[in-house]
Amino acid sequence: MEPAWNLPDILRLLATRPGEARQALYDRADAVRREYMGDEVFLRGIIEFSNICRNDCLYCGIRASNDRVARYRLGEAEILELARRMPEHGQTTVVLQSGEAPSREGDAALARLIARIKAETPLAVTVSVGNRPREVYAAWRDSGMDRYLLRFETSDPALFARLHPDCGLAERLHCLEDLRSLGVQLGSGFMIGLPGERRETLAENILLCRGLELDMIGIGPFLAHPDTPLGGARNAYALDPDMHFLALAVTRLVNPDAHIPATTAYDALFPGSGRNLALTRGANVFMPSATPGQRRRDYLLYPDKPCVDETGDMCARCVMGRLAALNRRVGIGPGHGRRSPNVTSNPKEFQS
Ligand code: 5AD
Ligand code: FES
Repeated sequence: MEPAWNLPDILRLLATRPGEARQALYDRADAVRREYMGDEVFLRGIIEFSNICRNDCLYCGIRASNDRVARYRLGEAEILELARRMPEHGQTTVVLQSGEAPSREGDAALARLIARIKAETPLAVTVSVGNRPREVYAAWRDSGMDRYLLRFETSDPALFARLHPDCGLAERLHCLEDLRSLGVQLGSGFMIGLPGERRETLAENILLCRGLELDMIGIGPFLAHPDTPLGGARNAYALDPDMHFLALAVTRLVNPDAHIPATTAYDALFPGSGRNLALTRGANVFMPSATPGQRRRDYLLYPDKPCVDETGDMCARCVMGRLAALNRRVGIGPGHGRRSPNVTSNPKEFQS
């Protein structure tokens, strides 16, 4: 039986003192990761296919009001070509991410793209393009979409409302429910250290991940982007940056069988070591960038994003060196969520 977690337990873990006690917590998270998920690291190649966004999230570098961003959208042929190259690098999932820019034509184009990727490659398809009505998600699922990523960002409704002029927390959670009910493998998560966040918020975030029974949990440090209203804000854990790893380790303990990526933002906060450390403190997934080199600079959700100078398959190759150094293997197979394992084999089986 997995333990039933409550807020005081989680708060106590998050209060672990620096030094040996923290290392012991990281080691426990690593052991739980190994026990439930093994030593395989699943590789999900991410294509940031458009930075066009109609929302104005206060923290995000590609928010609609940031007119210093050169907007782009990749064409279908280019995206397909990038996806086709993934399997030779051990990548078994393609993640299609963009800003939130709903339109009938764009959403239909994405359905066609998903269907082509499923027909022409062996890849699992994860989509991450924001809030949509249930019928749009259903159409993407019917085209072959396996998974969806949509972070709830923070579990504090007032903080959520302050940061998102275009959306409330209830609406975001509703989207997650829709996706779950459609049988799509579900990923969500939060930022760590948002200005105004308290330890209790962080603990609630971790508990909410558990409550949502997520297949994938993406978390990472908040980083202040200079061209946003939060440009001058500080990460709530600026004085104790290790909190970002405590959050990760506790997230693993509370969600032992979820796929947890070592997200890029860890490398932004801890240059050169962040993602590798994340893989030894609870994470079991890596998402190498497959976004074309010249576009990476235009997809800066936060500053100091790593890999913006790399081109072609440099990230795909770099990750192999990282895994070898950590004594970890590349995951074989799609690395589906444990909670909805049969989704890919026949997405149409599920009624909407
Ligand atoms: N710092 C850290 N993470 C950010 N994201 C967006 N802006 C920032 C920022 N300034 C994260 C959000 C979003 C994901 C795609 O990127 O959590 O869901
Ligand atoms: Fe991009 Fe190492 S992961 S260069």
